[in-house]
Amino acid sequence: MARVHTPRIFSGIQPSGGLTLGNYLGALRRFVEKQGQIETIYCLVDLHAITVWQEPERLRHQTREAAAAFLAAGIDPAQSVLFVQSHVPAHAELGWMLSCVARVGWMNRMTQFKDKAGKNAEAVSLGLYAYPALMAADILAYRATHVPVGEDQKQHVELTRDIAAKFNHDYGTDFFPSPEPVIEGAATRVMSLRDGTKKMSKSDPSDASRINLTDDADAIAQKIRKARTDADPLPGSMEGLKDRPEARNLVNIYAALSGETPDALLARFEGQGFGTFKPALADLAVSVLEPITRRMNELMGDPAEIDRILLAGAEKADAIASPIVAEAREIMGMIRGPR
Ligand code: AMP
Ligand code: TRP
Repeated sequence: MARVHTPRIFSGIQPSGGLTLGNYLGALRRFVEKQGQIETIYCLVDLHAITVWQEPERLRHQTREAAAAFLAAGIDPAQSVLFVQSHVPAHAELGWMLSCVARVGWMNRMTQFKDKAGKNAEAVSLGLYAYPALMAADILAYRATHVPVGEDQKQHVELTRDIAAKFNHDYGTDFFPSPEPVIEGAATRVMSLRDGTKKMSKSDPSDASRINLTDDADAIAQKIRKARTDADPLPGSMEGLKDRPEARNLVNIYAALSGETPDALLARFEGQGFGTFKPALADLAVSVLEPITRRMNELMGDPAEIDRILLAGAEKADAIASPIVAEAREIMGMIRGPR
């Protein structure tokens, strides 16, 4: 009989810049909702961040700031494991082992790599190419069964399933689960405020394209006021926004923030223009984000406390992952070592 794997959530965010409203709605807020329902493990994936150049002092700052964002958004270190990837050696170790399971042809299909490498594919780091194998290791080192992510990560979680299946098949075992991507809600893909066809990203060169969790009320209101839209009034349902990506994005953001369905929201705003909609959206965004930003600022006033929380989280994570990786080593035929 096949092994039944205990339900467990794992997810990660790269500290490669300040977190955005996209990270909050697509990931962070949903991480908080899962807390208490199921075992939850959340990771600041600094080893992923260095696949592209990171200035060392900035990386340290951004990692603490991302931790502050998790805590401010409601992650409770007593209920969730919150830690930094590089503090737990199992990730890099299993990452190598799984990169010997994954096939080059599988990596070549990864759309995020193609987007990030662009025309420059020969000059990017080897790590950027191997990154999906490390992500598989993040998930499988905990034998996680569910992975809440935004839409853009679906392909990587599916690759993780392929890697787990090949490992299980090659070694005649049912050791690894087949983790499921959990992609839900109105904001699985928040788009740029400047271009409704690009996702909102912490690495976009234009700061006006995104709302950062560190932005104050004035900055949020100004970015929403200047967000690209069209001149037409809002229709009565989402059907009418099919060819209006910028308008659709703002409506989805509003719905995700207010907890309404986009159609219910449009029933209220039908016939109104962005002159009315944008100020309402700005007020709503500020009311949701301001308490989080305030709490982040307080937490950043005591970085030593953040470090203590992260180190305690790393111990808990290591206690789970280290025996799992030791067992994987044994399955692969390595002589039992000191750990
Ligand atoms: P990253 O910022 O790439 O480390 O992403 C961390 C998490 O946030 C992943 O689950 C992403 O899918 C999610 N995410 C990032 N950007 C967005 C976005 N614009 N809309 C929705 N989810 C996002
Ligand atoms: N690759 C993810 C991103 O860029 C971050 C990530 C790394 C992750 N490891 C993970 C997400 C494991 C979920 C599970 O958004």
